[in-house]
Amino acid sequence: MRVLVTGGAGFIGSHVVEALLARDHQVVVVDNLSHGLRDNVSPRAQFIQGDILNPEAWRSQVGQADAMIHLAAQISVPVSEDEPESDVRTNVLGTVGMLQTAQQLGCREFRFASSAAVYGDNPRVPLDEDEAGVPLSYYGLDKCIAEFYVRHEDGKGTLKGMVLRLANVYGPRQRTQGEGGVVAIFSEALAHGTRPVIFGDGGQTRDFIYVGDVAEAFAWKLGEPGPGMTLNIGTETAVTVDAVWRHLADLAGQSADGVEHGPERSGDIRHSRLKTVRTAAWGFQARTPLKEGLRETFQYFQRLNRP
Ligand SMILES: NC(=O)c1ccc[n+]([C@@H]2O[C@H](COP(=O)([O-])OP(=O)(O)OC[C@H]3O[C@@H](n4cnc5c(N)ncnc54)[C@H](O)[C@@H]3O)[C@@H](O)[C@H]2O)c1
Repeated sequence: MRVLVTGGAGFIGSHVVEALLARDHQVVVVDNLSHGLRDNVSPRAQFIQGDILNPEAWRSQVGQADAMIHLAAQISVPVSEDEPESDVRTNVLGTVGMLQTAQQLGCREFRFASSAAVYGDNPRVPLDEDEAGVPLSYYGLDKCIAEFYVRHEDGKGTLKGMVLRLANVYGPRQRTQGEGGVVAIFSEALAHGTRPVIFGDGGQTRDFIYVGDVAEAFAWKLGEPGPGMTLNIGTETAVTVDAVWRHLADLAGQSADGVEHGPERSGDIRHSRLKTVRTAAWGFQARTPLKEGLRETFQYFQRLNRP
């Protein structure tokens, strides 16, 4: 299949590109490089520097595609709080535009990267896909609204629209800003021999999933017949931010003690864990154990910071 990946120069997108290429798909990446890096994109993929808010500028270069995987987004919760209109433009209008562009390109499938942030601070963890979305941030709200557009298009029957609600993704190539970047921030600090600041008391829990597993989920059963779905992509395991810090400090051979705690961040969720029963019924399961994923990530940051 010929697959267009928006945001394919980013952290998750660049791994999705590799998972697609490993399955012998032809891949086209569209990314404006506002947060991604050209070097992240495999030379085996076609790269177009373009903005999802201006598809007329690049659509003819793509020509035709069978599926679109839409990851390009404004990913920072604090930025969404400071600039809500800009978040709506990129994360809602950008997605609406990509649904139209996908159909103009001849796509039959559209996979959308949504987020656990749509659930907000719902206490009924682990959360299944039918739980109400009560977002705490504009970022979560805009992902929630964009999801409705994907499901609406799916309901028309011409484009199979799938929503993948990602838990906290970590792994190599994650930048140290943005959503869920705690593993990257800790790894970079340890690789530099400095100490990070932990927001809050460190007792907040997250469902951490390795980026290689998320990339597999986006490539999973692409092109196969079946209904579009909304699926959680997580591990169903809650891990405290403090435990992640201790694992990483241990990998670095440094003491975990004496780390500074800062105030909680506005819009942050206290506990986040996703139920994966529906995803397992689809045949997909995250496979990378946390310790293995943390080791891969820390080693990546060590290589980056080597003089
Ligand atoms: N990282 C996580 O833990 C996480 C969790 C839940 C959901 N997500 C979602 O997964 C997707 C990918 O996130 P990521 O962590 O890889 O972030 P990322 O910033 O590394 O990737 C996003 C990419 O989109 C590009 N982009 C941004 N605005 C664009 C625009 N207007 N036009 C074209 N390209 C544009 C950026 O340059 C970047 O390469 C996003 O939709 C994000 O909301 C991420």
